[in-house]
Amino acid sequence: MKTVKALKCFKLFLCILTIISVMLMAWHAIFPSHAVLEHIDWLYFYNHEPIYKQTFLFTLRERLKCKDNPFLVILVSSSPSGVKARQAIRITWGSQKSWWGKQVLIFFLLGKGTEQEEATALTLEDESILYGDIIQQDFLDSYNNLTLKTIMAFRWVTEFCSSAQYVMKSDEDVFINMGNLVKFLLNTNASENFMSGYPLIENYPHRGFHKKTYISYDEYPFKVYPPYWSGLGYILDVRLARRVYEMMSHVKPFKFEDVYVGICLGILGVEFLVPEDAELFFLYRIKFDICRYKHLIAVHGISPQEMIMYWQTITRESTSLPCH
Ligand SMILES: *[C@@H]1O[C@H](CO)[C@@H](O)[C@H](O)[C@H]1NC(C)=O
Ligand SMILES: *[C@@H]1O[C@H](CO)[C@@H](O)[C@H](O)[C@H]1NC(C)=O
Repeated sequence: MKTVKALKCFKLFLCILTIISVMLMAWHAIFPSHAVLEHIDWLYFYNHEPIYKQTFLFTLRERLKCKDNPFLVILVSSSPSGVKARQAIRITWGSQKSWWGKQVLIFFLLGKGTEQEEATALTLEDESILYGDIIQQDFLDSYNNLTLKTIMAFRWVTEFCSSAQYVMKSDEDVFINMGNLVKFLLNTNASENFMSGYPLIENYPHRGFHKKTYISYDEYPFKVYPPYWSGLGYILDVRLARRVYEMMSHVKPFKFEDVYVGICLGILGVEFLVPEDAELFFLYRIKFDICRYKHLIAVHGISPQEMIMYWQTITRESTSLPCH
């Protein structure tokens, strides 16, 4: 009797062992054990010749808008189907063009849409004529081409708006409290290396296939990303933007535009200074709270309807609120 029981136990043990080894083998097939490189080698990204200079044509470029040396230019990454978001921004935080005598300009960045996307009542050309705020190049507008859009932004500011003082790159689902942004910039010490936003430090690349943010070891062999500013909204001195743009010709476009900018900044050796106040930039949406929204600079993940609602609330209830 006893030996039968022992045999059964042994069989069960073998079974479990087999299952574990199969699982391990599958694990290794899915996640091969690459030699992940511990430290970033900047030379890995840098090419001595400017072989990555992008030559897409501007189809809409608004080059005359910058003649009055604007204080700040905000370039909003948009999409062909994002007309509602653009309209919401135009009538809310983008509506006031001057703050304490400082001129602020806002433009939308687009690639070219598919035929289906372009078959709308209001075409981008119409929008451009009506509002004069569209910057477009002839690359396909897609998620995987977002980096081309950012390169376009840096090129545009370098070629057509280098008399501006600051440039910000943002997204169409970001709510910006313009007054706070301008105040923030007026209170910082101007520096050729100034850059700010939501800092991402020690951010690890996602290696799981299912993630939208998946990146292979071939595309990025290092263990951790360099410090970078989230694409939700980073602001930099235009002189620095010009140097970053110059560097972009030497660095192969990387899938994630904000990491790409971080790589260029790393090669340039720009110091990374995190803002002291952690309540200014929000990577994810936060519930509407009038005091927090009156204090912040930018918050991500806001729909056009919410943008209008929040804007009306914070501008209507202007002064006498007990916010700390
Ligand atoms: C990016 O744009 C180029 C130029 O229009 C196009 O050939 C390419 O397919 C696009 N890439 C993606 C991933 O959409
Ligand atoms: C700007 O510079 C002054 C003098 O060096 C310093 O006291 C102040 O803290 C600086 N302000 C910021 C926001 O860095």
